[in-house]
Amino acid sequence: MVFREGFLEGRVAVVTGGGTGIGFVVSRELARHGADVVVASRNPEHHAQIVREVEALGRRALALQADVRDPEQTKRVAERALERFGRIDILVNNAAGNFLCPAEKLTPNGWRAVVEIVLNGTFFMSRAVLPAMRAQGGGSIVNIGANYAWLAAPHVAHSGAAKAGVLNLTRTLAVEWAPYNVRVNAVTPGPIDDTEGVRRLMGDPATKRAVLETIPLKRLGRREEVAWAVLFLVSPAAAYITGHNLVVDGGMWFNHRMFRPTATDGGLA
Ligand code: HXC
Ligand code: NAP
Repeated sequence: MVFREGFLEGRVAVVTGGGTGIGFVVSRELARHGADVVVASRNPEHHAQIVREVEALGRRALALQADVRDPEQTKRVAERALERFGRIDILVNNAAGNFLCPAEKLTPNGWRAVVEIVLNGTFFMSRAVLPAMRAQGGGSIVNIGANYAWLAAPHVAHSGAAKAGVLNLTRTLAVEWAPYNVRVNAVTPGPIDDTEGVRRLMGDPATKRAVLETIPLKRLGRREEVAWAVLFLVSPAAAYITGHNLVVDGGMWFNHRMFRPTATDGGLA
């Protein structure tokens, strides 16, 4: 256990896309540390396992079918969470869509699908939980980014642009909602093992090898390593941190290929 046992006891967390991949482990780790967890996503088949895991940890779980692209549905998620648990302390905007496609081939619908899930969904869900957080005197929102959001994002223009928007939104909401004691931060993963994101974007072995070359720590991240960054940001240890983007990518984003010392001249290859 990395954090003090039960430090989230009495807290209620909403995790979008909490039934799969990174969201699954974020939900489970929130529960392991004491939170009751609401997961929301489109496909109820993604919900049974996380509900079982949260309950096995002795916490309450609620799974809701919702599409974050629809503001009415995000509002309903917040209402149902409040009805059931009486408060919302944490929101993790983790839901996303992504697929590789060169920009010149991307159809308007393809663009819209990803931008609406990632950017609109993050805004709608955040707006939906604000009244509860405000009324109870505070809360913590964590948006999941992607480390190409501030670099070029070839073949994922939709996702790169949307995640860049999410980062800006993170800072803007951090300022606007600070008077309500609602902190808004981002956690930005690099490639994380055992996820749909890596399967979709780095599915072929040659791409995976090439990407690994650019990661100073020379491995993919683990889902737990993203979850621990989320736990830190929602913890009292981060009470004075808002508008921050915590990058969890093994040093990938600031690494570049121009200067690459070898084992003989620098020991870093
Ligand atoms: C080109 C594609 C496409 C593809 C879909 N489209 N997949 N175009 N290449 N591979 C187009 C469709 O043709 C359609 O446009 C439009 O996108 C919408 O497709 P739908 O299937 O109708 O959309 P929808 O059912 O809303 O599904 C959304 C989705 C889907 C994003 C397209 O893939 C999804 O649900 N994804 C969720 C899971 C996911 O993506 N996880 C990865 C997140 S990882 P037309 O014009 O034909 O109507 C991540 C970062 C990873 O974000 C970083 C790793 C390093
Ligand atoms: P994932 O398992 O596919 O997670 C995406 C989740 O979003 C799914 O649970 C999906 O559930 C949900 N979702 C998609 N569209 C939705 C919608 N319209 N409404 C509600 N929920 C929706 O992929 P992942 O790789 O774990 O990615 C999780 C997050 O990490 C994403 O924000 C992603 O951008 C980010 N990220 C991942 C990586 C990586 O290496 N994997 C790297 C950088 C950033 P339903 O299908 O049930 O709706």
